[in-house]
Amino acid sequence: MASRVVTPAPDVAPVAVPPPVAKPAAYRAPWWLQPVLVVVVLSGFGLYATWAALQGHNYQVGPYLSPFYSPEIWTTGPISSAVWILWIPLLFRATCYYYRKSYYRSFFWDPPACAISEPRRGGYRGETVFPWVFSNLHRFFLYLSVVVLAFLWYDALVAFTYQGRPYLGLGSVILLVNVVFLSLYVLSCHSLRHLLGGNLDCYSCAAAGQARYSLWSRLSQLNRRHGLYAWLSLFSVLFADVYVRFFAAAVEHLPVVH
Ligand code: FES
Repeated sequence: MASRVVTPAPDVAPVAVPPPVAKPAAYRAPWWLQPVLVVVVLSGFGLYATWAALQGHNYQVGPYLSPFYSPEIWTTGPISSAVWILWIPLLFRATCYYYRKSYYRSFFWDPPACAISEPRRGGYRGETVFPWVFSNLHRFFLYLSVVVLAFLWYDALVAFTYQGRPYLGLGSVILLVNVVFLSLYVLSCHSLRHLLGGNLDCYSCAAAGQARYSLWSRLSQLNRRHGLYAWLSLFSVLFADVYVRFFAAAVEHLPVVH
């Protein structure tokens, strides 16, 4: 039986190994920061939208119409015309799956964040009791919001004309950007995605299955950023109203030249 030869390891001069360098810890925002920001932003938006809707003044100037007041339904009545229309986008947002997650976490701490326990447990009945049961009406607010969105597109395009001529102002661009963000928000809606293709079990068995699959795939791409579009469109609609309001107030106080 052949003997096994073990070659001794060559002598290696010891090398000084530097002590491990401690990496600076990545900054992590405290878990409560996001819920607090959501409360501040949503409360601020709610208060501003209520004030703007009830105010009934300075919402239209030149070719611009505030998105809070579009479409104008009843302008001569005793109540601001925004009241007749603004409930649609507000309830659409209030019942949105993304905003529900946000305000359940932020306002009710239910739970406030991942891996943070709820302040109280038990008695959870989901969205089966008043008023949360109305969240199930989201798709009906979606249908109404699509109609409102069509009017907002019309307003944005009209803002590029003035007194029968092509016109380009800062407000035209703001209204256009706003309606693009609103469209992305609506198109990325979970309910719309479900309605246009997500409710099918078998695309090849359904009428226009291939087209619906293709549509569903595209909406699914948009849906991944639904939260982002929710915030962008919230700020853009707010900014558009503020801009029209400031512009209208400035024009109102311009000296009249005779
Ligand atoms: Fe957010 Fe429909 S789920 S708008």
